[in-house]
Amino acid sequence: MEESLSVNHLLGIKEISQTDIQLIFKTADNFKTVINRPIKRVPTLRDITIANIFFENSTRTRISFELAEKRLSADVVNFSSSSSSVTKGETLIDTVNNILAMKVDMVVMRHPAPGAAIFLAQNTNTQVINAGDGTHEHPTQALLDAYSIREKLGEVKGKKVAIIGDIMHSRVALSNILCLQKLGADVMVCGPATLIPKHIKHLGVEVEYNLQKALEWCDVANMLRIQLERQNTKYFPSLREYTMQYGLNRKTLEGLSKKITIMHPGPINRGVEITSEVADHSQSIILDQVENGVAIRMAVLYLLAMKRA
Ligand code: CP
Repeated sequence: MEESLSVNHLLGIKEISQTDIQLIFKTADNFKTVINRPIKRVPTLRDITIANIFFENSTRTRISFELAEKRLSADVVNFSSSSSSVTKGETLIDTVNNILAMKVDMVVMRHPAPGAAIFLAQNTNTQVINAGDGTHEHPTQALLDAYSIREKLGEVKGKKVAIIGDIMHSRVALSNILCLQKLGADVMVCGPATLIPKHIKHLGVEVEYNLQKALEWCDVANMLRIQLERQNTKYFPSLREYTMQYGLNRKTLEGLSKKITIMHPGPINRGVEITSEVADHSQSIILDQVENGVAIRMAVLYLLAMKRA
């Protein structure tokens, strides 16, 4: 019997198992070969229609999902809240039910409210993929991050990964912590005390407030941006002071006792959390992460579509 996911939706890393993650990686390996061929398209999802509904801005995730869907030959419709009837007062459920009435099979949603994807899955009759819900989860980002570590370092198990920056407001941080731990990595978070949630130790992560110590500890540093759009109070005196304490520059990177891998989910604020020299450094795999995002999203879409049969 063909292997299948244990879930009908991808709402968060919390809801999936280590076996699910390994199946997604194995499937992504095949799709990565496909997207590097001259003809990048397979007919796998040609009977499926997918709506990408984005209530928040996105570059990487939106384009990556759309490309993944098109590479699988799905029909694709894109919805952005600013040009929709949401601005006239329509609810999320009414909006999605109207889209589903047009015979859409699957919904990829980004929304500013934590839990929005779970709410949608519980209240509509469609398969839902969470493309980022507020400060909660961003499962496909965590999957492509872990996949990129596996590609670069051979495996995730036993690797030390430091997630550095604005942990408090980051859905990438939570999904990464859950995914990396399920795969057997050791995880540390590092940043100003004001940007690290008080109870994060309960997740089994190490907490470090000193950037140099975190960098010396890790094999991989995943640098996060400061999410100013989610901050309604000041968590540090100024961006300049944040950069002095937590910004990674080439001198610090090259002065470490071992070579570490640099990651960033994007969007990058060059000169704040990392300098351009670090972003473009030979130890950075930032654009590999973006490339892997398409293969991972093809794998997730394919495996969820197989659950429909
Ligand atoms: N990493 C990520 O989610 O980027 P976007 O906000 O551009 O989609």
